[in-house]
Amino acid sequence: MLKRISALVLAGLTAAALTSCGSGGSGGASGADDGSITMGFSQVGAESGWRTANTKSVQEAAKESGITLKFSDAQQKQENQIKAIRSYIQQKVDVIAFSPVVESGWDTVLKEARDAKIPVILTDRAVDSKDTTLYKTFLGSDFVEEGRKAGKWLVESFNNSTDPVNIVELQGTTGSAPANDRKAGFAEVIGADPKFKVIASQTGDFTRAKGKEVMEAFLKSNPDIDVLYAHNDDMGLGAIEAIEGAGKVPGKDIKIITVDAVKDGMQALADGKINYIVECSPLLGPQLMDLAKKVVKGETVPARVVTEETTFTQEQAKTALPNRKY
Ligand code: AHR
Repeated sequence: MLKRISALVLAGLTAAALTSCGSGGSGGASGADDGSITMGFSQVGAESGWRTANTKSVQEAAKESGITLKFSDAQQKQENQIKAIRSYIQQKVDVIAFSPVVESGWDTVLKEARDAKIPVILTDRAVDSKDTTLYKTFLGSDFVEEGRKAGKWLVESFNNSTDPVNIVELQGTTGSAPANDRKAGFAEVIGADPKFKVIASQTGDFTRAKGKEVMEAFLKSNPDIDVLYAHNDDMGLGAIEAIEGAGKVPGKDIKIITVDAVKDGMQALADGKINYIVECSPLLGPQLMDLAKKVVKGETVPARVVTEETTFTQEQAKTALPNRKY
C-alpha cells in the first residue's frame, strides 16, 4: 500500500515538474508564468512568391505581438516537418503552428503533441485526419472555393461559344490541400458543360521552373490548347515563358487563369499575359498570433477561420497593383 502511495506521489510530482519547466516555453497549454509565449512554426518551404510573403507575414507578426518564434523551413518535405514538430515538442514550446505540405500522414506526430499538451494550429493548409481534436483550429483559405471561382470565370468567358474548349492544368504539389481542392472546385464548375475538356493535367510543384518545364511538354503533345489553369501564379509565370518560347501569345492564343495574386502575377495580369487571378492571401501572420495567444490561454477558438479573398480581372489588377503588399 505504502509503495502505491509513494508511486502516486512521485507521478504527481513528475507531472507538476513537466508542466512548469521548459527553456523555450512552459511545456503546457498555459504559457510561461511571465506571460511569454514561444511558438514552433514549421513552414512548407520557399517554393513560391506566395510562400515568401507568408513567411514574412508570420515572422513580422510574431515580432509585433511579442511571441518568440522558432522557425524551420521543410523544403517541401513531410519528413522534415515531422522532425521539426518533434523537436518543438522536445523543446516544450507553448504552441506549434504548421502548414502541412501534404494532407495525409500526420496523426502520429499530432498525437505526440497532444500527449505533451502542446496545442497545434494548422495554418494555410489542412490535414485529412479524422480526429479533429488533434489540432485547435485551422486558419487559411477555402481552396475548393478558389477552384470554383476559376471555373466560374472560364464558364462565363466562353458563354457565347459552343466549340470545345481544351484546357491544360498545372497542379500544385501532389497530395497538398491546395492542389486537391483547387482541382476539385474547378472540375465541379466546368463539369456542368461537356464542351470544357481538361486534356492534360500534371503537377508543377507550385514552382516557376517546373511550371515552365511541364507547359513545354504540354505544348509539344497538344497543338490546340485554349486555356491554361495553373494552381498558382508562379507556375503560370513559368508557363508564360514556355508559351512565348513556342511562338504563341499568352493571354490571347492561350487564356490563362492562376491563383494567388502576388505582385509578379498581378503585373502579368495587368500586362495582358494572364486573364484572371483568384486571390489567395498569404498575410496570415497577425491572425495566427491572435489565435496562438488564445489557445495558449486555454480560450476556445473557432475550429475553422477562413481567409477573406477576392478575384482580379486585368483592369482590376491595374488599379490594385500600386498598393499591392506582396
Ligand atoms: O498553400 C498555398 C499555396 O502554396 C499557394 O497558392 C502556392 O503559391 C504556395 O506554394
